[in-house]
Amino acid sequence: MSLSTINKITILGSGIMGHGIAQVSAMAGYNVALRDIEQSFLDKAMEKIKWSLNKLVEKQKLSQTEADKIFARITPVVDMEQALKGTDLLIEAVPEDMNLKREVYAEVDSLAESRTLYASNTSTLPITEMAALTSRPERFVGLHFFNPPQLMPLVEVIPGSKTNQSMIDMATGLVQKLGKQPVLCKKDVAGFIVNRIFIPLVHEAVYCQERDNVPMTTIDSAVKFKLSFPMGIFELADYSGLDVIHKATVEMHSRDKKVIRPHPKIKQLFDEKNLGQKSGKGFFEYKGDKYERINLTEQEAAKYNPTALIGVAANNAAWLISNGVCSKEDLEKALKLGMGLKKELFTTVQEFGVKNIVHSLQDLAAKYGPFYDPDPYLVKYQD
Ligand code: 3HC
Repeated sequence: MSLSTINKITILGSGIMGHGIAQVSAMAGYNVALRDIEQSFLDKAMEKIKWSLNKLVEKQKLSQTEADKIFARITPVVDMEQALKGTDLLIEAVPEDMNLKREVYAEVDSLAESRTLYASNTSTLPITEMAALTSRPERFVGLHFFNPPQLMPLVEVIPGSKTNQSMIDMATGLVQKLGKQPVLCKKDVAGFIVNRIFIPLVHEAVYCQERDNVPMTTIDSAVKFKLSFPMGIFELADYSGLDVIHKATVEMHSRDKKVIRPHPKIKQLFDEKNLGQKSGKGFFEYKGDKYERINLTEQEAAKYNPTALIGVAANNAAWLISNGVCSKEDLEKALKLGMGLKKELFTTVQEFGVKNIVHSLQDLAAKYGPFYDPDPYLVKYQD
């Protein structure tokens, strides 16, 4: 198997991630089949692709002729057999539910040609477990893109226990060909690298809001202006989708209780179908389902001390390093390219003071339990 044998890519699932991955694949010159279970989902996805391509034309990153060619390379399709016919690589991006994945892979395996390689854009599910659902675990890899895939340069590459080296090499080469940067996640842990930091942080932000009784925009302003995130954390949760956050939470927590302290508000928003920007309401309200930003200011940021938030982010980051999931360099690279952090996380940690952060975590651990126990790497980290 080699990168040069890949001509047609099939994307399963046309949601936020699927439509974006289809677009970046077509932008790299691949012929793409974008498959979903209903034509109306595909119509919406193609409309979003058109919007995104128009934006890139507006910003002179593409010419109109190029944009038209890219759009024409994507074929929306409902029929699974047609979607898989002649495909070299499948990238699965269906919702994060192991039972659903099981059904999807059973169908895929019964129809895909034997040469087709499999990748999953899962955000949290174990690659080894999913690969085992298929007839080709050695040619199965995790390729985790970030929202919006059109703009975020990171793709985490996650091998399962049976993934062979040539599949990892092919996946790494593909990511580069798509104009993205790969980071290898060395262990198949819940949440991989970035989501191990992002998803628990959303829950912690809700706890902070309750404990400190401040508006969400105040916390979000502090996250943006004091922690150097490009968006507030509630804003980012709404942007990513509360369905995505909820499902990721359930999967991560079912596998590792230490990784996350779930706050019931996330499930409540999911149950109420307040899914964030895509449904018009989540933590905040939106005018439609289009890209929209929350107004955050330095003035508001000045009113809030986000030590608890940087503590939880740093603690999970430290866990990843302590446990050999990634190096500190790869961690910082992943946070910069996958979440747009404008400053290295551990630089912010130093600015807040390691001792202050460790004390804050110890206080929280005394009150709320071992989720907050400071990781030894963080404790030893020097100011
Ligand atoms: N295609 C093309 N253009 C797009 C676009 C898309 N899909 N989405 C937004 N844009 C455009 C906007 O319309 C805007 O255009 P305008 O200038 O004409 O208004 C422009 O891009 C962005 O401008 P902003 O001033 O709003 O932007 P920022 O400088 O803040 O950049 C961002 C936007 C890149 C989204 C940045 O805010 C960012 O990096 N946010 C963090 C995103 C993040 O953390 N993603 C990862 C989440 S975790 C995840 O995905 C994992 C999953 O498993 C849960």
